[in-house]
Amino acid sequence: MTTNDKPPIEVRASKMHALGMSAAQFLKDYWQKRPLLIRACDDFVCPLTPDDLAGLACIEGTLSRIVRYERRRDRWLVETGPFAEQRFAGLPKRDWTLLVQDVDRWDPDVRKLLHAFDFLPRWRIDDIMISYAVPGGSVGAHVDQYDVFLLQGLGQRRWQIDASANPPLAFRDDAPIRLLQQFNASHDWQLGPGDMLYLPPGVPHFGVAQDECLTLSIGMRAPSAGELLAAFAAQHALEMDEAQRYADPDLAVAHAPGAVDGEAVRRVRATLTAALAQDDRAMADWFGRFLSVYRAAEAPTPKRLSAAQIEARLKRGSNFTVSPKLRLNYSQDDQMAMLHGNGETLPTTLRLAKLCTQWDLSIDSAQFAALSEPDRASVVELCKRGWLIEV
Ligand code: SIN
Ligand code: CO
Repeated sequence: MTTNDKPPIEVRASKMHALGMSAAQFLKDYWQKRPLLIRACDDFVCPLTPDDLAGLACIEGTLSRIVRYERRRDRWLVETGPFAEQRFAGLPKRDWTLLVQDVDRWDPDVRKLLHAFDFLPRWRIDDIMISYAVPGGSVGAHVDQYDVFLLQGLGQRRWQIDASANPPLAFRDDAPIRLLQQFNASHDWQLGPGDMLYLPPGVPHFGVAQDECLTLSIGMRAPSAGELLAAFAAQHALEMDEAQRYADPDLAVAHAPGAVDGEAVRRVRATLTAALAQDDRAMADWFGRFLSVYRAAEAPTPKRLSAAQIEARLKRGSNFTVSPKLRLNYSQDDQMAMLHGNGETLPTTLRLAKLCTQWDLSIDSAQFAALSEPDRASVVELCKRGWLIEV
């Protein structure tokens, strides 16, 4: 590639490079910058069947939707789950999609796919949403605010995208989902099993199922400034010192008493900036806790378990894994770690924090026995809090 050439928009994966290039190259040339279609290099085995997905959509606690398009009336319809099993029998042969969010939470085989994205910080991955669509099924032309990897699981989907510099982004106001008023495709591809389309935020895209298909959307998490501010305020506002407030010891005589002048604006900005100021440790602790809860998840259930009971269960063949009700992450704190889950922090060794945040954590009796005394005590505490559960 010469210096003036743009990186290619289509590449082929290889056994060594699932992204068709090294992760460093992908991050440099594509991540948050430009779309990329990665053609599969070998047969892809979808970790889930359409029936598995429909089953999940019937369970209380999962987040699911059916999006239907009535062609004759150009009308979009959305139903939210959980669904009764019979609902699926009553659907037409064409033009609908079932979407289930957070499937990685519920299905260990789907969760394993996250391993391929280990080049990204785990917290940056929001979820794996999976859609099942019948021919013609689509959620319309739209944009997402976050990066997404659209991995084709089963069947064929036609993806059109608008990779132009300033695409029209106005939404239709007559639909229950966010649809673009105008969509001009710059690229048009058919994706089969294992093919994957990466889209940075803000690229209009329009996917239509050509036959029965499953599409896995590995969606990234990038909290909006508004979300961060609201969560930060909810946590800190009440704890703040009442004496920390707007102050103006340098006040000059007011010539226009009705006005909020530039000096007042400067002071209020300084008050807010001081309120947001946190040292790195405090900011990491807050952010880690903020990231450690799922939307729409009930709190983990604490368990009355003693260390002896946990050991006995491990000896009987039980394993302990992370509860699907929370997302564990950690921040380093000197040579120790702050392990975050369920909006809380537990100080642990760095070794245990790393172990607990592995994507496929499963602590068995041998692993437990090999842990240091303090790590075993932390595992017991994690089980008591319901952060680790028996499987
Ligand atoms: C789908 O799977 O139908 C939609 C995924 C997306 O556009 O983000
Ligand atoms: Co999308």
